[in-house]
Amino acid sequence: MKVVFILSDGTRQTVEVEPGGTLMEAALLNMVPGVEGMCGGVCSCATCHCYVSAPWQQTLEGPRSGELEMLDAVTYRRADSRLGCQVTLTSSLDGIEVMLPPSQG
Ligand code: FES
Repeated sequence: MKVVFILSDGTRQTVEVEPGGTLMEAALLNMVPGVEGMCGGVCSCATCHCYVSAPWQQTLEGPRSGELEMLDAVTYRRADSRLGCQVTLTSSLDGIEVMLPPSQG
């Protein structure tokens, strides 16, 4: 499946991954700049902050309380903010577009 990362400078980076991992893992495996995943995906660093565009938001489960607490602390939070480590990629998300915040350039 494809995941399109839109970097903070507008560059689009399309990566190919197997379903079952997370957005954060997809970025790290493909060396997408701006996604650090410092906590390893346990929802405690927010270095995987990203924006999931509107059509895709509707196909995702909403964030749980731990993710919402972390999002409260990020710079450039928006209504479509998510933590990439908390979004599992399923085949129904093939082609998902994810933007990175300006603070993660
Ligand atoms: S990788 Fe740390 S919160 Fe997502």
